[in-house]
Amino acid sequence: MASALSHDLTELPGLDYLSSPTGAIKEAQELAASAFGSDATWFLVNGTTAGIHAAILATCGPGDALILARNCHLAAFSAMALSGCTPIYVMPVQDEGLGIAHGITPDALRSAFSDAAREYRHVGAVLLVCPTYFGVTSDIAQLASICHEHGAPLLVDEAHGAHFAFHASFPQPALALGADVTIQSTHKVLSSLGQSSMLHLKGHRVSPERFSRALQTLQSSSPSYLLLASLDAARAHAQLHDTFNEPLEAAAAARQLLRQLPTGSGLLDDHILTGSDGVHEIDPLRITLVTDSLGMSGFEVDDLLQRSFGVCAEMSTDKTVVFALGPGSRLAHVHQLATALEAIGENSSKSRQEHMQLPVATAPLSLPRMQLTPRQAFFAQTERVPAREASGRTCAELLCPYPPGVPAVVPGELLSAEVIAMLQAVAAGGGKVTGAADDSLQSFAVIVKDLFDETT
Ligand SMILES: Cc1ncc(COP(=O)(O)O)c(C=O)c1O
Repeated sequence: MASALSHDLTELPGLDYLSSPTGAIKEAQELAASAFGSDATWFLVNGTTAGIHAAILATCGPGDALILARNCHLAAFSAMALSGCTPIYVMPVQDEGLGIAHGITPDALRSAFSDAAREYRHVGAVLLVCPTYFGVTSDIAQLASICHEHGAPLLVDEAHGAHFAFHASFPQPALALGADVTIQSTHKVLSSLGQSSMLHLKGHRVSPERFSRALQTLQSSSPSYLLLASLDAARAHAQLHDTFNEPLEAAAAARQLLRQLPTGSGLLDDHILTGSDGVHEIDPLRITLVTDSLGMSGFEVDDLLQRSFGVCAEMSTDKTVVFALGPGSRLAHVHQLATALEAIGENSSKSRQEHMQLPVATAPLSLPRMQLTPRQAFFAQTERVPAREASGRTCAELLCPYPPGVPAVVPGELLSAEVIAMLQAVAAGGGKVTGAADDSLQSFAVIVKDLFDETT
């Protein structure tokens, strides 16, 4: 610990400047560019969140359209408030049986470009999430070529795919498939310190100067050198020839063991077909267990794993638990997980299995009408009203039900009675709704009516 603290230095001679690097940081970023297959790489000290903000600021000005998958991270929605661009949403393919969202299809993207053309709007960029939390990738090669036919760069939130460049068993990284920009949470799936990420740029469609300017605006002028050094170390570690051999063996063993569980309902891989709509490939290091036949929701299994067995899943939904393996994953961890799941299966009572009603995945609703742009909604005054008075008002919260993990309504959109009923049904059925200040969903934040005209 003491030695880590002694490296918590600042911009001393020889340590270079993140905002305009010419020395050690420049060299480390160049090594990263070569390892990740980019023309230029920037180190980020405020996570992929800052990278998404920068990517949108660098590509979409006020009034431009941003075509984005509706299941993008919260950072994409706040980036629109920063830049003043406005959205054209593309719905991801939704697996209604499992209540989760996958990738987006080439047809859905083409149709978004047609909408933009019909409204004579300039598309600054397209933003997608790939892979999803569940390790599912979209057909990036096709999506990139559609973007390029329309003169727009493809930005990929590859937060969960920073390892893709380092083993032939992984899906190919989006940059290698034609994406212009990727943003990766090096701290999630590689071994850098929390909060450290990377932004990669390839090709000529976005100017590197615009990225540097955006990042100078968004990042601290006193970045942590511990975070920066950890990014360089994570890159070097990922490049070692055997970093992913044991994690891949562990993942293969986990798939085999979890499939053999007496109560197992199988893995996501058994429920979906690679090559089908919105499912191009699945990351072998992401394992999604379907929990139906354990007679418990994914949330309950996740909770038991954590409390009784010290196993932390990456996330859970009503019907699944997602496990993320990484460079440190070993066979022993997989055995610990399988033993825990076996014990959970044995303890889940038969009667419970027969009688328990698992929450039903909710069918997707159509997109609500946008009443205010994300930027107008961000600056508008808000008030909290009881649910019965919220219907017909403009929402001030980003409310995302799980299932299916796709925002039902975002700030500036109409909050309808149907959306309120759907959110309350998801919560009552054992699902989760994120983004609500009142998590009982008895009241909602909405935009003060008479300030509509004054918003900027
Ligand atoms: C898909 C996705 N994108 C972006 C982010 C934000 O990444 P960071 O935590 O590195 O800022 C997350 C975080 O969970 C994420 O899951």
